[in-house]
Amino acid sequence: MWGGRFAEGPAAVMREINASIPFDKRMWRQDIAGSRAHVAMLGAQGIVAPEDAAAIAAGLDQVAAGYEADGVPVDLALEDIHMATEARLADAIGPVAGRLHTARSRNDQVATDFKLWVRDATDQVLAALSALDTALLARAEEHADSVMPGFTHLQSAQPVTLGHHLMAYHEMIARDASRFADNRARANLCPLGSAALAGTGFPVDRHATAAALGFDAPTRNSLDAVSDRDFALDYLMAASQCALHLSRLAEEFVLWASQPFGFVSLSDQWSTGSSIMPQKRNPDAAELVRGHAGRITGCLVSLMVTMKGLPLAYSKDMQDDKPPVFEAHDLLGLCLAAMTGMVESVTFRTDRMRGLAESGFATATDLADWLVREGDVPFREAHHITGRAVARAEALGVTLDRVPLADLQAIDARIDARVFDVLSVDASVASRTSFGGTAPANVRAAIRAARGEKA
Ligand code: ARG
Repeated sequence: MWGGRFAEGPAAVMREINASIPFDKRMWRQDIAGSRAHVAMLGAQGIVAPEDAAAIAAGLDQVAAGYEADGVPVDLALEDIHMATEARLADAIGPVAGRLHTARSRNDQVATDFKLWVRDATDQVLAALSALDTALLARAEEHADSVMPGFTHLQSAQPVTLGHHLMAYHEMIARDASRFADNRARANLCPLGSAALAGTGFPVDRHATAAALGFDAPTRNSLDAVSDRDFALDYLMAASQCALHLSRLAEEFVLWASQPFGFVSLSDQWSTGSSIMPQKRNPDAAELVRGHAGRITGCLVSLMVTMKGLPLAYSKDMQDDKPPVFEAHDLLGLCLAAMTGMVESVTFRTDRMRGLAESGFATATDLADWLVREGDVPFREAHHITGRAVARAEALGVTLDRVPLADLQAIDARIDARVFDVLSVDASVASRTSFGGTAPANVRAAIRAARGEKA
């Protein structure tokens, strides 16, 4: 393709280090789409004769059919998907294939192909996020009233509802979706027609190619267009943050599936056995979601370090943009699908959750709040009184709502029998009706709102 000024071919290792076809063949659909749009524009603008443009378009269909049927052959001599496709086109239609690359460089070509690929990948992630969200909303609805201990410092803090806990993940997933959607909107400008770096003297119609490829407009600066990989970094950033969220839920599943917690039992489909310990049910999928988040973040760091300090415009370093994006996308797809499967099929052991919520003096704040409300006690003093009540419960070996009234009154005379109305975990969660609080009524309202936004 570029042999004109060379007397010798490349060294074998040169060929190997230079070639991207082993991985960029994954973009063949986008490459064909870009070429179709380009040649249609060349024909319409009279840059290439209409019959040549038509022959090239038909040839591209043939090449695409071949790729579809047999895959993309890897020939290192052809360097990348762009040259491979052009070579196949020449095999199919002869020398007229050479007109396709008029007013185009591989630099604007690869930027366009990769943007199209990342856009498709983003759409796939958005669909997968929506599926996970649907699963979370369904399980949250089922458990809008189920009480579990809420933790801070992984210590029992206050009772919450499981529905509320699951809806916290809905919020994260919704932010992830909006990040991917923002990225898609921001990146949707077409680099094609920027040529190598300076633009082209041919009378190209960049608005036509942009529209044909579903972009909102052409990019505004040719130097930026061929050297910008923000769209890939944005994808990786959103993917890393999403994976980070998934890893937190995964960690909770791992923890909750452990015997001391016993909050969940993962379904057979999402557990593995041990080759030596017959009793084992290991949460491997959750552990791998937790682990993959690290690899996905590694992909982000990889591309950031590649791009850092690169002078304008294109440098071959940028060919290394694709493997981390492909890897992150594959891993994220697995994580989202596995997490959706786990959420759909996990059994929540609400009896265990309730038992633990009742055991950790988790309604101590409710007692303090009651003293403030009913006894007009300053909160700091109420906190102290409640601390003594907890100590009494601990000494008696009972939960807070089982401490005899006489014992409570010995600590503070302002306490009366009405206090027992607020000391149960159900009363506690039902009382948390502040906007965004854990009360079952709030959880149901949040689910309705989330479904409304989805519809
Ligand atoms: N395979 C290259 C890449 O992925 C295509 C662009 C090559 N451009 C060049 N001037 N060598 O970045």
